[in-house]
Amino acid sequence: MASLIVGNWKMYATSIADANILATSIRNYVSHFENTDIVLCPPAMWLIEIRNIIRKGSKISLGAQNVFYEKDGAYTGEISPLMLKDIADYVIVGHSERREYFGETNLDVNEKVIAVLKAGLKPIICVGEKKKNNSASQPYKELKEALEGVPKKYLKDIVVAYEPVWAIGTGENADPEYVARVLTKLRELESRNTMMLYGGSVKSKNIKGYAKRPEINGVLVGGASVRVSEFEKICRSFEEEKAVIFNED
Ligand code: PGA
Repeated sequence: MASLIVGNWKMYATSIADANILATSIRNYVSHFENTDIVLCPPAMWLIEIRNIIRKGSKISLGAQNVFYEKDGAYTGEISPLMLKDIADYVIVGHSERREYFGETNLDVNEKVIAVLKAGLKPIICVGEKKKNNSASQPYKELKEALEGVPKKYLKDIVVAYEPVWAIGTGENADPEYVARVLTKLRELESRNTMMLYGGSVKSKNIKGYAKRPEINGVLVGGASVRVSEFEKICRSFEEEKAVIFNED
C-alpha cells in the first residue's frame, strides 16, 4: 500500500505569490518519490492556481479544506461538491477547527461525507478526542457517525485522519504506538484498503516514529506544511522509512 501525506495549509499562504512558490517547490521536490502520494490542501481561493501548478498525473493531488453538502442553491459563501469535483481529488471533512469554530456536528460531517463520495471525491475524515484520555472511544464514535449510511463500496475511497485535538498546533504530538492502537480500533469500521493517517504537531523531528508503524499509512500535516524545507524533510523521511520497512518484508 502506498503512503499518503496531506498538507493542510489552513488559512496560511495568504498571497497568491506565496501559494505559488510553496506548491512549485513541493512539486519539484517530490517528483521522484515512488511510494508516497502527496495531497496539498490550499485555501479555496488558490485551488485553481495550485491545480495548474501540480498538474494531473504528478505525485501530487489537490484537496479542498471544506465543502458544503448541498449540490447548489441559496447558500451564500458555500462551495458545493459539484464545483470541486473537476478541480480537486480530496476534501478534508470534519476538521476539529471546523467543529470548534464553525459548529460542525457529527451529522453535518456525515452529510458532507456522503455528498463528497457521491460527487466522486475522496473525503479525508478527521476525528479525535479533545482531551488526552487514553481512549479511542470519542474518535470511534465520531467515525461511526460520519459513516452512517455510507455504502460499503465507498469505503475504499475514504481516508481517515486520527487527529487528537490536544495535539493540533500544540507541539505535543501523540505517541506513535498509541496512535497505532487507535487506528487499529478505527479500522474495525473501515475496509482493508482505507488509508489511515495521523495528524497533530507532525514535524521532521518526530515523523520517523509514525513511518515505522505499519498501522499508520500516512500523516496530515498542518503548520509544518507551509514551511517548504520542513515539509520536504517530513515527506522525504516518511518515504525513506517506509521503503526500509517495505524492503524488510
Ligand atoms: P498541526 O495541524 O500539524 O499544525 O498540528 C494538524 C491539522 O490541523 O490537521
